[in-house]
Amino acid sequence: MKLAVLLSGRGSNFEAIHAAIASGRLHAEIVCVISNRPDARGIARARELGLTTHVFDHKRYPTREAHEEDVLRALAEAEPDFIALAGYMRLLSAAFVAAFPHRILNIHPSLLPSFPGVDAQAQAVAYGVKVSGCTVHFVDENLDAGPIIVQRAVPVRDDDTGDSLAARILEQEHDAYVDALIALSTHAWRVEGRRVVFEP
Ligand code: GRF
Repeated sequence: MKLAVLLSGRGSNFEAIHAAIASGRLHAEIVCVISNRPDARGIARARELGLTTHVFDHKRYPTREAHEEDVLRALAEAEPDFIALAGYMRLLSAAFVAAFPHRILNIHPSLLPSFPGVDAQAQAVAYGVKVSGCTVHFVDENLDAGPIIVQRAVPVRDDDTGDSLAARILEQEHDAYVDALIALSTHAWRVEGRRVVFEP
């Protein structure tokens, strides 16, 4: 399984995926790591790890399409089987998504379809849900909306803040993302409507 990782910040999910590969739990190869932010900690870490990295600073492009052209060119060179968005804070155009049907994954820190968008953990605390969690899903043209691959539940405590809940969800994210990639690489699967169905 050849993986491309797109990130914008801390990169802890990227590191979890890398660690799972290094330990032999996930049989995959990270063929490139792309950041839209030159200062992303995740891209610095990818460089330290000796991976192929690209920075395409979206602020230096006149349009979303121009930025995506460079990202697409790098992806075409790397030929990934899957593209893992790991804290990539850019909306992908419909054309970009259509170029990789059921090949782009994202992780979101809530049990979708609850609390899409930013600050999902703080949204969950403010709403008063007793359980939140994280979702690994395929990316479609809508925000945080594609078919769900893996979810993990995390109880919300009465004294939780957005930050404390985010920290506990993040631990589950790392495992859930790796599990989703293992499932996709070791099982036959198909998408039926909104459902991702794995063969036993
Ligand atoms: C994670 O909470 C992920 O769910 C969200 O962005 C955050 C990225 O964290 N999409 P990291 O950069 O992987 O540490």
